[in-house]
Amino acid sequence: MACLPAAPPALRRWLGLGLFMLLCLSLGYALEKKVVKSKVGEKVGLPCCYEIPSSESLYDYRVYWQKNTTKVVLAYAKGEKISNHERYDNRTEMNPRNLTLWISPVEILDNGSYQCIVQNLRSPQNPFVLCEETVTLFVTADFSKPNITAEVSATSCESAEMVVRCSSHGGFPKPKISGTLNNESVVWNGTWVSKSSLSLYNVTGKLWLNVTKDVSFTCSVEYNGFVKSTSLLLNKTNGCIVPTVPPSYNVVTASSIIIITFLLAITLAARYLPRHVCSHCCKPQDSVEEGVKECMKPPVTSKATPETSSV
Ligand SMILES: *[C@@H]1O[C@H](CO)[C@@H](O)[C@H](O)[C@H]1NC(C)=O
Ligand SMILES: *[C@@H]1O[C@H](CO)[C@@H](O)[C@H](O)[C@H]1NC(C)=O
Ligand SMILES: *[C@@H]1O[C@H](CO)[C@@H](O)[C@H](O)[C@H]1NC(C)=O
Ligand SMILES: *[C@@H]1O[C@H](CO)[C@@H](O)[C@H](O)[C@H]1NC(C)=O
Ligand SMILES: *[C@@H]1O[C@H](CO)[C@@H](O)[C@H](O)[C@H]1NC(C)=O
Ligand SMILES: *[C@@H]1O[C@H](CO)[C@@H](O)[C@H](O)[C@H]1NC(C)=O
Ligand SMILES: *[C@@H]1O[C@H](CO)[C@@H](O)[C@H](O)[C@H]1NC(C)=O
Ligand SMILES: *[C@@H]1O[C@H](CO)[C@@H](O)[C@H](O)[C@H]1NC(C)=O
Ligand SMILES: *[C@@H]1O[C@H](CO)[C@@H](O)[C@H](O)[C@H]1NC(C)=O
Ligand SMILES: *[C@@H]1O[C@H](CO)[C@@H](O)[C@H](O)[C@H]1NC(C)=O
Repeated sequence: MACLPAAPPALRRWLGLGLFMLLCLSLGYALEKKVVKSKVGEKVGLPCCYEIPSSESLYDYRVYWQKNTTKVVLAYAKGEKISNHERYDNRTEMNPRNLTLWISPVEILDNGSYQCIVQNLRSPQNPFVLCEETVTLFVTADFSKPNITAEVSATSCESAEMVVRCSSHGGFPKPKISGTLNNESVVWNGTWVSKSSLSLYNVTGKLWLNVTKDVSFTCSVEYNGFVKSTSLLLNKTNGCIVPTVPPSYNVVTASSIIIITFLLAITLAARYLPRHVCSHCCKPQDSVEEGVKECMKPPVTSKATPETSSV
């Protein structure tokens, strides 16, 4: 701009237009930002804006890789490493030809924007910038598969009240948690997101439900375009059929009472019933001989019963 006033007006306009177009072009470049995605622990390469021709070497250049325009991550001048940020110590290397910055293993804190600046040093008094470019690194860490727990707080014949919790941990970036009941989205009664010292997030959602029929509950955790979900069938406990707490003990007691009563009834019946039957059958008989014969039988049968019951 400073040199423009010296030129004649027509040329100035042309130059102005040219500068404007250049500005547009560079803006266009800036808008079409380079984006690289990586997961924690992986190796990632951030591309630079210049490739050193095979006739030359890194010796003729100065290269800066910086983060967020403030921190120098790695820098080379005349082929020598001149700077290396301690947080990136032993985790970075640069390709000496295409100047790609490799980071391995990637950490959450590496998330952010990086700039690559390349200077030519062939005229040391007047080093000029060959190119400068920004690359955005998006770091993600996978959340665990959501863990759903359902705790029944009260039951009745028609419904079951329960507290449903869904949690997932160890991911990045900050997630969104959502839930559906038979495909219908629910409103959580509460959600919590916590961040650990390593910048990883944990997330939990809590829901109070009144389940009147068996429903399928799905919990999803979404982060940076990825989704992890889990489903669980929530059962309306059929509280009317099975007695409540503690069922096994009650069943055992009840069945033993029934069995004892039944055995008692059989024993009593075996002891007393034959006499009644006999006295009943003896009376109508006219013949004394036959009546004696009939009445002789019961003692035999009553003797037989203790034997069978002891078996
Ligand atoms: C730079 O070179 C490395 C190794 O040859 C290659 O893996 C990488 O894709 C190159 N990057 C660019 C931007 O050309
Ligand atoms: C990046 O730098 C800008 C200012 O240049 C600052 O506002 C921002 O917080 C920085 N971001 C990080 C992640 O350091
Ligand atoms: C980097 O590697 C060097 C040599 O292997 C070692 O001495 C140094 O402690 C390492 N630095 C870090 C931060 O691991
Ligand atoms: C990760 O970096 C991207 C790009 O700079 C930024 O938009 C995003 O907010 C960062 N995320 C966090 C959690 O810092
Ligand atoms: C899910 O939650 C239950 C109950 O809190 C717990 O016992 C179980 O270990 C959890 N599972 C995982 C994978 O975290
Ligand atoms: C409900 O979920 C099932 C699978 O779980 C799917 O096939 C169906 O399309 C969903 N219905 C609606 C209305 O979203
Ligand atoms: C839970 O949320 C539901 C619906 O959003 C609401 O009807 C209910 O009262 C809430 N329960 C508690 C204990 O906040
Ligand atoms: C996140 O969850 C993990 C595993 O359940 C746990 O060890 C850790 O303490 C939790 N961190 C926070 C900040 O809640
Ligand atoms: C749950 O639903 C049943 C049947 O619709 C109802 O009788 C009961 O009062 C409800 N409980 C709560 C806490 O809303
Ligand atoms: C509901 O029943 C199904 C099988 O019938 C079982 O897999 C599931 O775990 C049960 N859900 C709960 C919350 O008990």
